[in-house]
Amino acid sequence: MSRAALPGFRDFYPQELAERAYVMNAWREVARRYGFLEYDGPPLEPLELYTAKSGDEIVGQLYVFEDKGGRKVALRPEMTPTFARMVGARLNALRKPVRWFSTPQLFRYERQQKGRLREHFQLNVDIVGESDVAADAELLALAIDVMREVGLTASDVRARVSDRRLIGALLAHFDISEEQQPLVYAALDKLDREPRSVLEKRLTDGGLAPHTVGSLFEAVAAKNLDELRVRLGGVRAMDEHFDNLRRYFELLGSLGVAEWVQLDLSVVRGLAYYTGIVFELFDTAGEFRAICGGGRYDDLLATLGGTAAPALGFGMGDVVLSELLRSRKLMPALQPAIDYWVASDDEALLPDVMFVAGRLRRHGHSVEYSLKAQQLARQLKAAASAGAAQVVILLRDQWSGGAGTATLKNLADGSERVVRGDELFNIPV
Ligand code: HAM
Repeated sequence: MSRAALPGFRDFYPQELAERAYVMNAWREVARRYGFLEYDGPPLEPLELYTAKSGDEIVGQLYVFEDKGGRKVALRPEMTPTFARMVGARLNALRKPVRWFSTPQLFRYERQQKGRLREHFQLNVDIVGESDVAADAELLALAIDVMREVGLTASDVRARVSDRRLIGALLAHFDISEEQQPLVYAALDKLDREPRSVLEKRLTDGGLAPHTVGSLFEAVAAKNLDELRVRLGGVRAMDEHFDNLRRYFELLGSLGVAEWVQLDLSVVRGLAYYTGIVFELFDTAGEFRAICGGGRYDDLLATLGGTAAPALGFGMGDVVLSELLRSRKLMPALQPAIDYWVASDDEALLPDVMFVAGRLRRHGHSVEYSLKAQQLARQLKAAASAGAAQVVILLRDQWSGGAGTATLKNLADGSERVVRGDELFNIPV
């Protein structure tokens, strides 16, 4: 029998679990600061929840099977459809805008590569019921504040922002037909991974005129709105999208994250449901895959059978973020730490050791002791490796069944003091 976990699945030994907890605590803490409420849904869902709108890429990666009741079910590959269904079902009763977050474990049968596993944990933060671009700014600021919370700076991470509606208007401006659009999106998505000449050829082979392809690539290379406007020579049909994005960038400035954000029209986002501003967070050195991705999906609630409502959100995985933190030496090492170790110089005192440990635990302290008879020196070593702050030492000649005294040794500075049995339990928690 194999002793390894399935490919793409992780065993979390205590060190790895401590790292996961560190990342997830940062997620929770920042979501709390922004006033988001935590929710969860089922890890197993009806297959059609994903076939409705997630798009072919994710559907091709589903862990799917038939349950004993003959239902087609899938392990959740993403949280957004579950979230949309849950909110859609109770939209009228919920306080709006809905501001919820979750940290589900997700499952995708992906081709194995750096930063991509077959399970991962993902912070999901979503807002429903607000179409103002202020909500888009709030969402991206939260994602960026998670970066700050774990010690990353604007020179480590960049948020690349695009707008599906603006891209749509751009494609209409270049007379690119509906059928040709998926080809163009796929090419934009690969702009920083494949040579431009290869992509140009793919588009001209797909029926686009060479001059259209040239102008399109020139437009999407714009690094800010002014540059884009100049490159397009002022197209009226796009004014509304320009104004929207301009206000978005201004609000991001007010939220104190402007230096992290950059316009990048090559950000497409693989998922099919996005309808407005979309974004991804990347490491600036370009070593890793996306840390986070999200955007506006104003039609999804209605598509899944609920009431229509504007919605937006993002997902941030633990895998890439943890890799980035490790590579930047920002991932804290697990330091075992307990409050007390209880030791004695006589194995006959084990019941007393247990009694003392029990009392201290009931006072809220973390306490360990040796589960088998051991020399005192060994017990002190074990206490140090458990990261005990103090050791309570019961010595046969002093303790006298609790009527006498114990020695309290501080392992940080080696100091010792003698305490009465009852004094031992009056230490503040
Ligand atoms: P996504 O871009 O598919 O979006 O995933 C978001 C993030 O999850 C990625 O940037 C990456 O950090 C992480 N991730 C995705 N797949 C894997 C994998 N196989 N292994 C490790 N990490 C992974 C969504 O899932 C959207 N539902 C996000 C969203 C929420 N949009 C609106 N609300």
